Amino acid sequence: MANFTVNRVVTSPIEGQKPGTSGLRKKVKVFTQPHYLHNFVQSTFNALSAEKVKGSTLVVSGDGRYYSKDAIQIIIKMAAANGVRRVWVGQNGLLSTPAVSAVVRERVGADGSKANGAFILTASHNPGGPNEDFGIKYNMGNGGPAPEGITDKIFENTKTIKEYFIAEGLPDVDISAIGVSNFSGPGGQFDVDVFDSASDYVKLMKSIFDFQSIKKLITSPQFSFCFDALHGVGGAYAKRMFVEELGAKESSLLNCVPKEDFGGGHPDPNLTYAKELVARMGLGTNPDSNPPEFGAAADGDADRNMILGKILLDANMKFFVTPSDSVAIIAANAVQAIPYFSSGLKGVARSMPTSAALDVVAKSLNLKFFEVPTGWKFFGNLMDAGLCSICGEESFGTGSDHIREKDGIWAVLAWLSILAHKNKDNLDGGKLVTVEDIVKQHWATFGRHYYTRYDYENVDAGAAKEVMAHLVDLQSSISGVNTTIKGIRSDVTDVISADEFEYKDPVDGSVSKNQGIRYLFEDGSRLVFRLSGTGSEGATIRLYIEQYEKDSSKTGRDSQEALAPLVKYFYLFSF
Ligand code: G6P
Ligand code: ZN
Repeated sequence: MANFTVNRVVTSPIEGQKPGTSGLRKKVKVFTQPHYLHNFVQSTFNALSAEKVKGSTLVVSGDGRYYSKDAIQIIIKMAAANGVRRVWVGQNGLLSTPAVSAVVRERVGADGSKANGAFILTASHNPGGPNEDFGIKYNMGNGGPAPEGITDKIFENTKTIKEYFIAEGLPDVDISAIGVSNFSGPGGQFDVDVFDSASDYVKLMKSIFDFQSIKKLITSPQFSFCFDALHGVGGAYAKRMFVEELGAKESSLLNCVPKEDFGGGHPDPNLTYAKELVARMGLGTNPDSNPPEFGAAADGDADRNMILGKILLDANMKFFVTPSDSVAIIAANAVQAIPYFSSGLKGVARSMPTSAALDVVAKSLNLKFFEVPTGWKFFGNLMDAGLCSICGEESFGTGSDHIREKDGIWAVLAWLSILAHKNKDNLDGGKLVTVEDIVKQHWATFGRHYYTRYDYENVDAGAAKEVMAHLVDLQSSISGVNTTIKGIRSDVTDVISADEFEYKDPVDGSVSKNQGIRYLFEDGSRLVFRLSGTGSEGATIRLYIEQYEKDSSKTGRDSQEALAPLVKYFYLFSF
């Protein structure tokens, strides 16, 4: 058993360590500056109460992006020096963000230990590599992201930090081999437990979904399936889950080998970046002539998802399920299709810019409903209080109260469950109910929320603030705005109200202000403006445009065409 001592290192504050919506994300070159990671990790330990650190069990892993392996060794040594009792690491440092949440909540160590918190090393869907992004965030004992009270404290600490603690004499731990290594320090024993990245997560998924019925669907000759991990950590789960457990062919997996630089790609599951999947589904350049019925992708840390249906070249049908529709459709079908929800939903929730498709389902099923600011952490309190079962965001996040993070693979399994349920009597040669059928049926029942988002990236931060201030000013003269617009565009209804979204957490009473600017129209349409909270440089302004169509004869239009009047409207009054 190697012995270590504790080294106190003198340091000084480094600017700009304020955690964003999902932790601290910066270029690798920023993170590798002397003391940069150390200052942030020590500031986090200092922000937690002593019992959350001394004698605790800490999970440290992530999406495997460049610099993760070095960061893990640093955090192990700092944890040891700060009195942490044991560190749990997924093999090769890999754990998806949802799997970290599952491990914190569910895993029991050989000695009966449970995790108290986790450092997740990821910059989510941002590219990786020496010139790209790295990130770190802290999750609490419930498996969810640290609340603002803690992240504010961390930031305050980074502004006054004078010292950090790191173990000396503790060798680098081989994180490629499963097993426990024991060390001994001034405070007693310290262990590093390297474990299989997939087991706990697969076990949890098997307790939620009916794997038998999904397997029957996937192995049916009438169905075909494809999953793209974009070389993110989702690949560490895909083979186990889809091939070994559910019987998919190996050829259904695309880019499922996790890579430090995500193969040079942008690991964001959308129609722009998931190019290979889009081609496999029959769209884009070099489209496959025989696309599968169902396609899905996850982002770098596998918490986001994209769901696609078969794209028929001749019929020009792009079947992309918008994330706002996806959560609504999952909520509408969960009780029948997913055993975990069979006794009913406690409630549902969406982030403010997400379309109101979920609201309509909640109303029709008489479910509790919540609208929260952007950021998954706002769902956590509702779930901990037993108020919410399913939630989702327009930013490709969907999930449930099985953990406290959004969950890309869960979303894929939820969709497969709905398909399996709808096709339970069709798999012996009947006509398959497709993704497209399910979405269209949903619109016919609940109406359709046409929806689009525009992103203005790399805007100067000062200019972005000015645009937002201008939009707030305009709110005081709604009648003026309506008069101007009516002169130019007569096919949009009047703006009837405008506000800046503010949220009071119904559980702890905390208030989050300035969460986006909303313009609400008479016919239920909305324009929302928000500053992104996840960029690593400059500012990004996001515009969300939404229009509700109840008339089932009008729900099949092209969404860009349907939204054209509102898009025009927005251009007129913002720039
Ligand atoms: C992360 C969070 C999501 C959030 C998204 C918003 O992915 O985990 O909960 O919706 O950021 O990103 P934005 O760039 O719009 O602030
Ligand atoms: Zn992510």
